[in-house]
Amino acid sequence: MKTINITQLVKWLENSALVMRENKDYLTKLDSDIGDADHGFNMERGFNKVLEKLDELSASKDIASLFKNTGMTLISSIGGASGPLYGTLFLQASIVLKDKTELNLRDLKDCLDNGVNGVKLRGKASIGDKTMIDVLDPVVQSLSDSLNAELSISEALTDMVQVAEKGMKSTTDLIAKKGRASYLGERSIGHQDAGATSSYLIVKSLKKAIN
Ligand SMILES: Nc1ncnc2c1ncn2[C@@H]1O[C@H](COP(=O)(O)OP(=O)(O)OP(=O)(O)O)[C@@H](O)[C@H]1O
Ligand SMILES: [Mg+2]
Repeated sequence: MKTINITQLVKWLENSALVMRENKDYLTKLDSDIGDADHGFNMERGFNKVLEKLDELSASKDIASLFKNTGMTLISSIGGASGPLYGTLFLQASIVLKDKTELNLRDLKDCLDNGVNGVKLRGKASIGDKTMIDVLDPVVQSLSDSLNAELSISEALTDMVQVAEKGMKSTTDLIAKKGRASYLGERSIGHQDAGATSSYLIVKSLKKAIN
């Protein structure tokens, strides 16, 4: 397989929505430890809206419109910090995909690179701040490494999920520097970040949709 098509990307969004539903209580539990216990609710609500639009999304003329519509849907339906951040991820990813109906590995890397940079600009978080960036940043780096090593899409996605899991787990030992969790300072150590966990689930859903 050399490219990823719209149908597979719509499947990704569908898988993400189902996984948010399954993990709603888990994400809320993580956010209750060091936040305000709404992350599961926020993510389920946002991705349910995406699910409701699945027919419309499937009819997108290209991947840029698919991602743009997804980003707008997430921004308008998720409350809290994560809505604008995940919305920005998809909106900024869409910008570099004009007219594309298929993605090769370079396109995937480029669009996620732009998407994650958008999240960093918007949220001002860097790696090590105990946020979704601790998953998303290494994911882009992993795709870039896979591209340089001329790996297949399937191999690249396998590596990407491993890196995402490692990033998610790395947040447990970190001190939160952004969002409500940062108010706890050192007391945030010992808890896995909720947004890093939802990002891992989204990344894992992408691999599942494509294999
Ligand atoms: N500035 C930021 N940059 C990147 N990610 C962030 C930032 N602030 C929060 N997050 C991520 O969002 C998650 C919390 O999302 P949630 O849906 O609970 O919204 P929230 O309750 O408004 O957020 P918070 O309590 O962190 O301000 C965190 O676990 C973290 O991963
Ligand atoms: Mg919260």
